[in-house]
Amino acid sequence: MSASRRFHSRRVPGDKGVFALMSEAKAAAAAAGKQVVDLSVGTPDLAPPPEAIEALRASVDDLTTYKYCLRDGTMPLLEAATEWFASRYGVRLDPATQALSLIGSQEGLAHLLMAVADPGEGVLMLPIGYACYLPAITIAGLRPRFLPLPDDGSFLPDFDAVPASLAAGCRALLLNYPNNPTSAVADGAFWRRALEFARRHDLLLINDNPYCCQVYSEDALAASALAQPGALERTVELFSMAKSYQLGGCRLGFALGNADAIAALEAVKAPVDFNQWLGIQRMGIACLKLPQSRLVEYAQIFRARAAALTAALRAHAGWEAPMPRACMYLFAPLPPGFSDDARFCLELLGQTGVALSPGSAFGPAGAGHVRFALVRDEGVLAEAARAIGRFLASPEAARLRGRGGSEGGANGGPAADVAAAAGVSG
Ligand SMILES: Cc1ncc(COP(=O)(O)O)c(C=O)c1O
Repeated sequence: MSASRRFHSRRVPGDKGVFALMSEAKAAAAAAGKQVVDLSVGTPDLAPPPEAIEALRASVDDLTTYKYCLRDGTMPLLEAATEWFASRYGVRLDPATQALSLIGSQEGLAHLLMAVADPGEGVLMLPIGYACYLPAITIAGLRPRFLPLPDDGSFLPDFDAVPASLAAGCRALLLNYPNNPTSAVADGAFWRRALEFARRHDLLLINDNPYCCQVYSEDALAASALAQPGALERTVELFSMAKSYQLGGCRLGFALGNADAIAALEAVKAPVDFNQWLGIQRMGIACLKLPQSRLVEYAQIFRARAAALTAALRAHAGWEAPMPRACMYLFAPLPPGFSDDARFCLELLGQTGVALSPGSAFGPAGAGHVRFALVRDEGVLAEAARAIGRFLASPEAARLRGRGGSEGGANGGPAADVAAAAGVSG
């Protein structure tokens, strides 16, 4: 072991995440004089609800908010969260035992994995998902097992096609619908099949659900795994203020579900942190009390952006990208002739300043795709599509096509770093 790795657990990934590496590439593009249009990170650009900001503002002057916040102090948030769930899904939960406040769904998931499984056990997961899943699983000492996906573009597993041997030794089934990066949406029937599968193999069903209110439907609301009959026996859903309410930086989320799993999660979190500042919790309560119509407005903005971007890519770049059904992403196969998504993203960024996420950063099923985060307005997205069109017509793109888009990745350099990080993180 080298000296620099002496104080580094084998469970902790040694490589930088792909987003850190893309940040370096963005900085290099900016230093080279490119105006960077960053569509690589799913950080909301819209204003949060004024009610949320008002709750924060009022809390700043309330000197009672600055103490440590123990479990009791989180009860108003947990009551609001369970009220919210009951009003949306018709299922009443006990805020004292079936709910827990989180710093965010990301923090909640990392700790939940430590809380509900023992080192060496497996976690069944999609071969495409949020880049933090694999590091979180590894740090918890668990083993990822990828569910096969049918070749129908749905990004929904067919549980009947999963061999029983894959589930042997697994403790949890980790899913995420509406899905980052694919925007796939699961309906109630899918969740009932997932539950049945979880029951058959004695798994905890975890749905990481920060995009539950970003479906491009009339009510913007996704089906809930936890709202299905019998789900409470083995399901936890993780919710977040980040995406629905444009509050990614003002960290807050909550877990709802099976009381044993919630108690285990609370026990893991207890020595790690106290709860979020009361002002942030009051911000969350203000959000949870908003009518669903406000979330529909946000979701429709992302739908309009997705429609504008797919149209502009077709018109200016001849690139056919499927229209998403949810979330704040457009996930597209690379244009014909390209195969290395990491090299494509780095070349595109270097030539045009447009930053996308390589699909392989999200797991093996993401290879050959890119993800656009819809975090700029329609005019900026259309301009990015024009720049992509110019790039696709350039000699640099022709060279990349000629190589099958893979030479840089194979020979090293930043593309190889990005691809390597993609292997680690997704
Ligand atoms: C699937 C998924 N889970 C969790 C998160 C992080 O959510 P939070 O900000 O609540 O930690 C993200 C952020 O992009 C995400 O896409």
